Amino acid sequence: MDIRYSGLSRISHWLSVIFVVVMLTLGYMMFFSTDRGAGAYAEAAHIGVGFFAFWVLLWRTVYRLKMGFPAYKIKSTRHDVARVIHYLILLALVLLIFTGPLYLFTENEGMAVFNWFTINLDLSALSLIHEPVEEVHKITGLYLLPALLIVHIVGAIVTYILGE
Ligand code: HEM
Ligand code: HEM
Repeated sequence: MDIRYSGLSRISHWLSVIFVVVMLTLGYMMFFSTDRGAGAYAEAAHIGVGFFAFWVLLWRTVYRLKMGFPAYKIKSTRHDVARVIHYLILLALVLLIFTGPLYLFTENEGMAVFNWFTINLDLSALSLIHEPVEEVHKITGLYLLPALLIVHIVGAIVTYILGE
């Protein structure tokens, strides 16, 4: 089994990092903003960038699941934990990219991608799931994903210092 990530895997990892950092920053700006205008501006940017984040993060998740993870040279609890965290990060990202658009569509709001185009998909028949979907999106974006990323990044630093 392969023990190294391919070049494409590395590019997709760092491309996802850029999208996730931008989406998290805008999400937190919405959360903390006390000014209505600034909050609305951040939300519009979050939705616009979110359209592109959707495709990139969906593709990278399908690619990873299809290709599998490279095997570690040695088996250890640290590696097992790292692998579980990788799966959980991917799960959190998939939850976010689906609940974001669903949150809008279930109240028949379009997904406006800047002033370029708007995706309209009337799912108001599913309005019952509007609130739960919003809660899942917020809890995953504000708490779950950041917590997983902290563990992931600390783990990466520890591995860098201690070696595999
Ligand atoms: C938004 C931030 C990040 C996300 C969403 C993320 C996500 C992931 C995911 C899903 C994997 C599993 C392999 C793959 O599918 O690419 C992974 C692996 C990895 N990430 Fe990140 N990552 C982030 C930030 C970082 C940062 C800042 C570092 C460096 C400090 C880092 C270092 C690594 C390393 C070294 C691996 C391979 C680890 C191994 O196989 O044990 N990541 N990351
Ligand atoms: C990596 C992907 C994503 C991350 C990390 C993320 C993060 C967040 C966070 C932290 C919030 C909370 C803001 C608050 O409570 O005020 C939020 C809200 C929101 N997100 Fe995302 N999000 C992502 C993807 C998306 C996508 C693809 C869309 C698609 C349109 C989207 C649409 C929204 C909307 C409409 C809200 C506002 C919810 C409300 O008003 O209660 N998000 N997001």
